[in-house]
Amino acid sequence: PTLWLVVPAAGCGRRMGADRPKQYLTLGGRTVLSHTLSRLHAAFPEARLCLCLDADDSHFNPAWVPFRDWRRVDGGVERVDSVINALEAIVAEEGDEQALVLVHDVARPCVDAGDLARLFAVVDDDPVGGLLAAPVADTMKRDDGAGRVARTEDRAGMWHALTPQGFRLGVLRRALTRVRAEGVTVTDEASAVEALGLAPRLVPGRRDNLKITHPEDLALAGRILAAQAS
Ligand code: CTP
Ligand code: MG
Repeated sequence: PTLWLVVPAAGCGRRMGADRPKQYLTLGGRTVLSHTLSRLHAAFPEARLCLCLDADDSHFNPAWVPFRDWRRVDGGVERVDSVINALEAIVAEEGDEQALVLVHDVARPCVDAGDLARLFAVVDDDPVGGLLAAPVADTMKRDDGAGRVARTEDRAGMWHALTPQGFRLGVLRRALTRVRAEGVTVTDEASAVEALGLAPRLVPGRRDNLKITHPEDLALAGRILAAQAS
């Protein structure tokens, strides 16, 4: 079946607080968006790409898209809305419900080639699908809502959910449209699939697959990219 890549890139980067969305900040002279798409393209040169961009985006340059086969869709209010828009566009072109869809945040330019290959191999062979994830290293505290520790969570068996996350087109579309219809907040694809009663595979990935979120993350991502290149 066809491999589709969905890259949600319609966020405004509120937490980054820069003069433009964080996907248009530069690392080594190239935009974050360009880095991320290059990494994906190196791993999956024949994949079909669906890129979610804000309808009023004034920074995007199509020269940053290395894929031969790609289309642009409008972003939605929340990340899940952007991804659903992408899936609707894919369904309009793709007849196969079993086509594999990998969703990857544009804000994760440091994703490793080996991790991408491993994730693909696992989800392509799995009835449910799965996600890159990294074991939690810190001790995890639950707060009481008033700035004090309510309890310490057992970190054994806890994972950071990363991207890409890969599922069959039919399952993913059902899962996301259902959580949205029910008004459930989800911040990744896997939690929507979990809500269907399915158990996505956890595929161990590198911890340096950082999501650029806060101002200090940009320089860190730059150092990770430089270290990976050397
Ligand atoms: N995203 C999107 N559509 C939205 C919101 C987010 O496509 N309506 C994308 C972002 O561009 C990013 C990914 O989803 O690639 C993860 O979101 P996040 O890290 O939260 O990015 P922003 O929403 O841009 O940042 P913030 O929440 O700080 O505003
Ligand atoms: Mg956001």
